[in-house]
Amino acid sequence: MKGIVLAGGSGTRLSPITLAMSKQLMPVYDKPMIYYPITTLLISGIKEILIITTPKDLNTFKELLGDGSALGCSFQYAAQKDPNGLAEAFLIGRTFIGGDSVALILGDNLFYGSGLSELLQSNSDPEGGVVFGYHVNNPGRYGVVDFNKQGKVISIEEKPHKPKSNYAVPGIYFYDNTVIEKVKHIRPSRRGELEITDINKAYLDEDQLQVSILDKGIAWLDTGTFGSLMQASQFVQVIEERQGLKIGSIEEAAYKMGYISKKELHGLAQPLLKSGYGEYLMQLD
Ligand code: G1P
Repeated sequence: MKGIVLAGGSGTRLSPITLAMSKQLMPVYDKPMIYYPITTLLISGIKEILIITTPKDLNTFKELLGDGSALGCSFQYAAQKDPNGLAEAFLIGRTFIGGDSVALILGDNLFYGSGLSELLQSNSDPEGGVVFGYHVNNPGRYGVVDFNKQGKVISIEEKPHKPKSNYAVPGIYFYDNTVIEKVKHIRPSRRGELEITDINKAYLDEDQLQVSILDKGIAWLDTGTFGSLMQASQFVQVIEERQGLKIGSIEEAAYKMGYISKKELHGLAQPLLKSGYGEYLMQLD
């Protein structure tokens, strides 16, 4: 399965801090935001990743992450010229996806919790599409999924005024290869974007959409506003300082998944020793 991280968008809800720099390069406590979604893909078992960003930010992301070989992975890059919506990722990435299934994760979504890796791995490489459901206070801000007692999806709606459930759809999606065909048939929404929710509806119309629940033991944070960005940083700081374990460390994830050896991990740690991040990597078992 291949993975796409969508790190485009104009970040206008965070201006002026995003005027000169991409939102997904902003720090979430002790690492750039994009480390978190990349870690999520790595622990899902995905090693071939396409990073989609704005033309302006592309080289900065390359400088930060390279070609992925240091992590035993492959990272490629592509530009999204205008913020035309999440689903455009499958048009931009169609050659990269080729004949494979694909996971899409949004560059500003942070997931953390026990059992996450197993849950994601068990849903990867699906027949049809898999979305996740996460109970929130304010579902109307998100895609909202409604399902019956058997877990069968009844509806999925983008930012509904009257949400049919409290289950928001977080920004991670697993699709079979038919997503490439589906994206050709959807049209821009009223906000002028190719909506991921319309892709999900296309799967639902074919009775091919599954929902998997992320339970309350898992934290899903988004970082799109000043407040939520600060909260995400505080969350990471509190957990990391309390546990002495890091969230969203791409090097640790690559090592734990067996993509790199201990020697390679130690090599990656060397330039990071002064901040304490490298020391953390050095002491991993
Ligand atoms: C997007 C999707 C929405 C999803 C959300 C998750 O919303 O359209 O369905 O629930 O990401 O972060 P946006 O961030 O574009 O408002």
